[in-house]
Amino acid sequence: MENEEKKIPQVMLTGDRPTGRLHIGHYVGSLRRRVELQNQGGFDEMYIMIADTQALTDNAGNVTKIRDNVLEVALDYLSAGIDPNKVTIFVQSRVPELFELTCYFMDLVTVARLERNPTVKNELKMRGFEESIPVGFQCYPISQAADILAFGTTIVPAGEDQEPMVEQAQEIAHKFNSLYGEVFVEPKIMLPENEASRRLPGTDGKAKMSKSLGNCIYLSDDEATVNKKVKSMFTDQTHLRAEDPGHTENNPVFIYLEAFATDDHFKRFYPEFPNLAALEAAYRKGGIGDVRVKQFLAAVLNDTLNPIRARRHEWENKVADVYQILEQGSIKAEAKAKEVTIRARRAMQIDYFENRKNIEKQQKAYLKAHKQEEAYQAYLAKQKH
Ligand code: TRP
Repeated sequence: MENEEKKIPQVMLTGDRPTGRLHIGHYVGSLRRRVELQNQGGFDEMYIMIADTQALTDNAGNVTKIRDNVLEVALDYLSAGIDPNKVTIFVQSRVPELFELTCYFMDLVTVARLERNPTVKNELKMRGFEESIPVGFQCYPISQAADILAFGTTIVPAGEDQEPMVEQAQEIAHKFNSLYGEVFVEPKIMLPENEASRRLPGTDGKAKMSKSLGNCIYLSDDEATVNKKVKSMFTDQTHLRAEDPGHTENNPVFIYLEAFATDDHFKRFYPEFPNLAALEAAYRKGGIGDVRVKQFLAAVLNDTLNPIRARRHEWENKVADVYQILEQGSIKAEAKAKEVTIRARRAMQIDYFENRKNIEKQQKAYLKAHKQEEAYQAYLAKQKH
């Protein structure tokens, strides 16, 4: 029995800021993988967090936007196929233990270390905060470490922009454990499997899909919208006539096809070619028009989005149920985070009221100092009853 190895439960946790609806970049970059992991059943516990508190760190004046998008993101999860019976979906702000842990963790990280975080650096540059960076924004990697560590997370499926956050969580876990004793598990990131899924460019060919650039295809876009967006997509700028040889690398249309098109899609929508490699070879050689390739891409995307749209439609009619899923998920998440937080307090010896041993030790010391040995014996006897 004693020799039995202590098995660490396999826990998956990831999340999104509710700043807008989720798009197909989120889908290939993370949502699709989450659904696969859910259905493979390799985890003991799975959590997906709607990171409203993190979203508020640079949206203090936009609470309505964040509030409304908590529902939209929940709808996107459920439509993408996340099963609330298998995955605990919860709202960050409803798990107050996360903010308690954040405060303890703040004492384990230097300002200089925070300022080196490349993802935050990049975000600060893009948002142009200049001198007026909210403290909460600068510190969000610490709060994200709490999100991850509070659940004993072993795996964080996320994009490469989240790598610095997971690294910081590892460092904090390590620092805490070496200062106070083993409480936290050091998590690992799980990056998307293929290059095309790692960073889906915008429809305009810009490096990333982003709401502010207006270059996104949303999971909730209808068929006509998807057709229109695909029609106006950037392709190979040097491929002017169908007969010309074309380039498939750095060509957004082909990057999307790499992320979405299956051999079955070719069979149904482009039977002239058995698979993407064959279409790419023909496009490079010349003789394939962009209009036809785009028609195919639109068919592929709509085929992928159809079941997602159907599920969204159903859930949109049951908004109260969606909120109930979030509420139940948040209660469940809090119970787990509380367990871990209690262990952290105990390790830090700030478990004042629960630590009977310490209370007795301090009482004994004072009674001794007051030379009240009898009172002490009586006190001990009373404690036993
Ligand atoms: N930073 C993530 C994003 O911008 C959201 C997030 C918050 C998260 N907490 C997390 C992701 C914990 C993974 C794990 O999308």
